[in-house]
Amino acid sequence: MNIEEFIREIPDFPKEGILFKDITPILHNPETYNYVIDKMVEYYSDFEIDYVAAIEARGFLFGPQIAMRLNKGFIPIRKPGKLPAEVISAEYELEYGTNTIEIHKDAVKPGDKILLIDDLLATGGTTRAAINLIEKLEGEVVGIGFLLELLALEGRAELKGYDIYSLISD
Ligand code: PRP
Repeated sequence: MNIEEFIREIPDFPKEGILFKDITPILHNPETYNYVIDKMVEYYSDFEIDYVAAIEARGFLFGPQIAMRLNKGFIPIRKPGKLPAEVISAEYELEYGTNTIEIHKDAVKPGDKILLIDDLLATGGTTRAAINLIEKLEGEVVGIGFLLELLALEGRAELKGYDIYSLISD
């Protein structure tokens, strides 16, 4: 299946000069949606994994589905102020300013093997912050999976030493 056909480019979103990769057509088509989940589950079927974690919001479109198919629990990593129990936070750089993500402190126990999922690898800043959260709780990031990797932004360089899988790279 040619998944690229289901990723549309929207110019000047969210601001001028940015060509936004919109993955909503994938979700709109059940065959395509199933196909991308199948492919990712297939890649991780031999991995030793305790939990699947994913990053709000678009990571939640893929992470929980993969977790359920692998029969593993799911750990949400969220934007600040959304998780109700005790959290730890990590800050990361954006083009202008910073962002923060959070994880429940009791979601990861030392030694837990975590598969981290997000829709997109761009600069790698968001993923790096998520890794920092998991490792602060002494979890082990055993794999990082993306639907789409934007090669020009060299996010992989930020994630050296980890097993990175991207279904599509552009
Ligand atoms: C997007 C995307 C990744 C991140 C990738 O999230 O879903 O999480 O950016 O960029 P990076 O590799 O440069 O860090 P966004 O912050 O737009 O939030 P959303 O998922 O809530 O739309």
